[in-house]
Amino acid sequence: MSNNADSLVAKRLEGKVALITGGVSGIGKSTAKLFVKHGAKVLIADVQDELGHSLCTELGTPDPISYIHCDVTSETDVENAVDFAVSNYGKLDIIFNNAGVAGEFELRAIATDLENFKKVLDVNVVGGFLGAKHAARVMIPAKKGCILFTCSIASLVCVGIPHAYTASKHAVAGLTKSLSVELGEYGIRVNCISPHAIATPMILKPFGLSDKTKAEEAISTTAVLKGTMLEPEDVAQAALFLASDEAKYLSGVNLPVDGGFSLNNPTWKKGLEELAQC
Ligand SMILES: NC(=O)c1ccc[n+]([C@@H]2O[C@H](COP(=O)([O-])OP(=O)(O)OC[C@H]3O[C@@H](n4cnc5c(N)ncnc54)[C@H](O)[C@@H]3O)[C@@H](O)[C@H]2O)c1
Repeated sequence: MSNNADSLVAKRLEGKVALITGGVSGIGKSTAKLFVKHGAKVLIADVQDELGHSLCTELGTPDPISYIHCDVTSETDVENAVDFAVSNYGKLDIIFNNAGVAGEFELRAIATDLENFKKVLDVNVVGGFLGAKHAARVMIPAKKGCILFTCSIASLVCVGIPHAYTASKHAVAGLTKSLSVELGEYGIRVNCISPHAIATPMILKPFGLSDKTKAEEAISTTAVLKGTMLEPEDVAQAALFLASDEAKYLSGVNLPVDGGFSLNNPTWKKGLEELAQC
């Protein structure tokens, strides 16, 4: 889309301030770009400083986007990031707790390394909770706010991925529900988004893949919805909707962005096909 056409698009986050964790890569990066395009002031928080600074340069540092080093497992870092958003931009309307790790790709419980299991929970659950805790600290007095998490289809179905990741995303879905009930009293909405697989560094790195197209082809063989491909921008669009005033009465929702994947259980169909051949 040309710059001219861009300026004709209604700005759905005009005047809002957003903090995005894990904001320099994949889903977080796409969301940061889309939020800026829709008029938000965005603070990206991540541990990859070089990528953070170059994204700011690309999108026009220091305003409307800035970067802060923030390891989401450190409460001090998260507290600083929230305080920086408020001191720099005057308030915090939206936090997108998106930082996450896949952990080691070990599917067997008996071979699972405990330290790795704890690390996955620490980043994906404790990190997300700390984001919500400190965002709520500044949103409660404002009597409004939007807390979002990136969850996963692993919170809805078992797809043969490590137990730590599955457990962590179930916990994120649970946090979404319990926080939405507690914080509704203060006008704060809490939702999460559950994407199907996307060929981001989180998927590519553990498999030592450099060819994104090959990964996308493999992912698309598992998809229910054919003829298209899930991309980080699709998750960003879901985040934009949930963060905007268009979703003003949505809270406690775990929104699948999976083309119907989590509804499908092919084992029954396969069983019937086998029966038909008997
Ligand atoms: N890619 C997928 O298939 C997929 C599917 C469903 C859900 N998700 C979830 O989406 C989210 C984003 O993942 P992605 O696919 O964009 O991967 P990604 O690797 O491109 O991005 C993850 C970002 O999180 C950051 N991060 C990791 N640990 C951190 C920490 N301790 N503190 C701060 N930042 C940290 C990384 O530096 C990176 O920038 C994750 O929560 C992931 O679980 C991904």
